[in-house]
Amino acid sequence: MTNNTTRTLRQGRTPRLLRDTFLLPRGLLGRIGGRLMARNPVQQEELAGLLVTLSPQEVCEIGSGPGILAKLMAERCPACRIDVVDPSAVMRARAERRCRAAIEEGRVVVHSGAAEALPFADARFDLVAAVNNVALWPDLDAGLREARRVLRGGGRVVISWHSATAPDKMQRRLALSEAEAETLTRAMDEVFGTVQRRSLTHSAVWEATVPQT
Ligand SMILES: C[S@@+](CC[C@H](N)C(=O)[O-])C[C@H]1O[C@@H](n2cnc3c(N)ncnc32)[C@H](O)[C@@H]1O
Repeated sequence: MTNNTTRTLRQGRTPRLLRDTFLLPRGLLGRIGGRLMARNPVQQEELAGLLVTLSPQEVCEIGSGPGILAKLMAERCPACRIDVVDPSAVMRARAERRCRAAIEEGRVVVHSGAAEALPFADARFDLVAAVNNVALWPDLDAGLREARRVLRGGGRVVISWHSATAPDKMQRRLALSEAEAETLTRAMDEVFGTVQRRSLTHSAVWEATVPQT
């Protein structure tokens, strides 16, 4: 970036109902939002299928919400340890409940935090994933720099968002505009030096690899 402005994918004020239910879930609305998010987890299923092919061991999931992806990863990737981070206490409680068995085995750990300030040491992970929250980050570049900081050389970041071509009408409505998608591509390119953008059936995905040192 050439100036000091903070870049976000979606600007402007969000109605409180939407914010408290889905964007930064809290209270009763947040608990309802957590249930709705878990109702038809085709995106997380599809993404887990992609992530396990990367054979990760140390995984960081940003904005885990109610823990759907973390549970799938724990089930499908026995060698994985998954550290999830979410700023919403309601979502962390849901994730802890959903992932209880893996938490007891020490394979999932739920942390309080946010993309722009990850509570992890440098070079800790070989995979960082974020599903349906990159457009909520208040500082896109800070979030991407944090993802890079906690990745080892050769580590991969996989960021997904609702797809404009998904079968589901709501997902299509939530998709990034082409200008927003381009902003994300450019921002990832600036931080990681390279980025691949592709469409899965249910999600749009941006991937990058940290160069080996
Ligand atoms: C729509 S939910 C998606 C949850 C989950 N990834 C899923 O796919 O089910 C958005 C999540 O992003 C979280 N979130 C909001 N702001 C965030 C930030 N700055 N950094 C990380 N996560 C954030 C919210 O608390 C919420 O759990």
